[in-house]
Amino acid sequence: MQRRAPILVTGASTGIGRSTALELDRRGLAVLAGVRREEDAESLRASATGNLEPVTLDVTKQESIEAALSGREALGGLVNNAGIVVAGPVEALEADGWEAQFDVNVLGAVRVTYACLPLLHEGLRVGGAPVRVVNVGSVSGRVTLPFMGPYSASKFALGAITDALRAEVSPFGLDAVIVEPGAVRTPIWDKSIGAGEERLAGAPADRADRYRAALEELGRQAARSGAAGVDPDHVGRVIARLLTARRARTRTLVGRDARALAWVFGRLPRRLRDRLVRRLFREGGGS
Ligand SMILES: NC(=O)c1ccc[n+]([C@@H]2O[C@H](COP(=O)([O-])OP(=O)(O)OC[C@H]3O[C@@H](n4cnc5c(N)ncnc54)[C@H](OP(=O)(O)O)[C@@H]3O)[C@@H](O)[C@H]2O)c1
Repeated sequence: MQRRAPILVTGASTGIGRSTALELDRRGLAVLAGVRREEDAESLRASATGNLEPVTLDVTKQESIEAALSGREALGGLVNNAGIVVAGPVEALEADGWEAQFDVNVLGAVRVTYACLPLLHEGLRVGGAPVRVVNVGSVSGRVTLPFMGPYSASKFALGAITDALRAEVSPFGLDAVIVEPGAVRTPIWDKSIGAGEERLAGAPADRADRYRAALEELGRQAARSGAAGVDPDHVGRVIARLLTARRARTRTLVGRDARALAWVFGRLPRRLRDRLVRRLFREGGGS
């Protein structure tokens, strides 16, 4: 039987994407690992066993996506993992913050999926394995916390896109699912705290000042939950299983925090949720 076509993983430089790419490589599957810097390509090559090929891929740039796929005949799967966090109060975030968030997390996944679909259909002819798109969502795609509006909205959107895609492509034998981790120990937390502080520093004081105390609390909570998060290798194994299983769950929460949050918030009336969340953020940062 012909070898299964390669699986493309976006955002493979660090965190969940890197863990997923290396897990697939260890399992003997061919992987195209999307990175933006040569040093990240080098580091992946050094850790992989030889099934992994780094490819330069910026999900916000159409020409970069086309170059990464140029000459490829088939794909055996796709992991839309590349992501950033834009956090901040709705009142103090101008449209460019929302645009940056959606450009990577939503439109990035849409651009890459659009470009890959013809190759994924071809992948069905090779190796007899399931061919699936795994989108990396988040429990924030089920539960929205204050100051996480842009990020949460991007992950809700990704969930909707996943559902639409699955319904459309399943008649042809393709599949699309979403994985929804809670906190994971990756550099995303450090990156987002720094970028969030910069954005807030640039916002008009009359808009931003009333939220500063709550945002400081958010920063502390993000640092704590990031440090207590699950290992990205665990998420990488979950994604590898989703890519190889004959049948996969359509939505997979990862981590006890994600399951608890989704379960509790899924059952509470919204005003009660709000009260709980406000307590978490000390009544909106007033104290
Ligand atoms: N960490 C968590 O707690 C957590 C929880 C739930 C879901 N997630 C999701 O998991 C995914 C991976 O995040 P992570 O936690 O592993 O963080 P990470 O280590 O910061 O990884 C993010 C990856 O996305 C890449 N990326 C960012 N912008 C890109 C662009 N324009 N084009 C291509 N790649 C780009 C980064 O590449 P560079 O190194 O080049 O910037 C990096 O490889 C994200 O979708 C995130 O929302 C994370």
